[in-house]
Amino acid sequence: MKLILLGPPGAGKGTQAERLSLRLEIPAISTGNMLRRAVEENTPLGQQARQLMDRGELVPDGLIIDLVLERLAQPDCQKGYILDGVPRTGPQAALLEEKGVQIDAAVLLDVSDETVVERMSGRRVCSTCGASYHIAARPPKQEGLCDLCGGALIRRSDDAPETVRRRLDLYHRETEAVEAFYRQRGRLVSIGQGNSIEETERAILDRLNG
Ligand code: AP5
Repeated sequence: MKLILLGPPGAGKGTQAERLSLRLEIPAISTGNMLRRAVEENTPLGQQARQLMDRGELVPDGLIIDLVLERLAQPDCQKGYILDGVPRTGPQAALLEEKGVQIDAAVLLDVSDETVVERMSGRRVCSTCGASYHIAARPPKQEGLCDLCGGALIRRSDDAPETVRRRLDLYHRETEAVEAFYRQRGRLVSIGQGNSIEETERAILDRLNG
């Protein structure tokens, strides 16, 4: 199974990618996580990405596609994979297709801007291992601390209200073209909003199996 998870920032792509990865036993590949790791390790890619990410802007298409193709060449991707956060522009979708990346379904988490703002304002991430929580929908067992490693929970630097608005604008400007790309190919599966994390996972699996 080769899947793409699409949707605005904060729609729940990372949350569902993690659950589907466990359920389907295929890796979840998040360009956001790969870039955040590169920033933390201060690699040349990280140095290029840092400011763009903090401003809520996109990293250049060529860099992203090289990063993804390198990851897809790893042996654990043979059986399938879930792409989270990529492709994010029309040119990224076209480049992946040109390079022979064929997907079974592009799952769109169709969530309103209002819900996105609510979800991102409640998101907390572990400063040590990166695990993600939500103060209401997915609270940690102990307030402020990661269930997995005990690290301190913080807000992501690009979740500041001003940056969230910029990321949403960019989504409507750039990423909606990706929906059209997969709709034209009969691969788009749209999942409506308003469901809990568990209900959303069930809806995705039902649509993929149906
Ligand atoms: P990235 O990390 O991909 O950010 P994003 O797409 O903006 O998505 P998010 O990670 O913010 O949200 P999500 O949809 O994964 O939601 P989550 O599951 O956390 O990218 C970051 C930056 O990197 C970009 O801005 C860009 O600069 C760069 N970048 C990355 N990929 C790129 C690319 N391809 N090209 C160019 N640049 C790129 O959920 C959000 C919150 O809601 C959580 O707290 C969660 O617990 C909660 N939640 C989830 N589902 C539900 C639910 N059903 N009900 C209630 N709460 C829920």
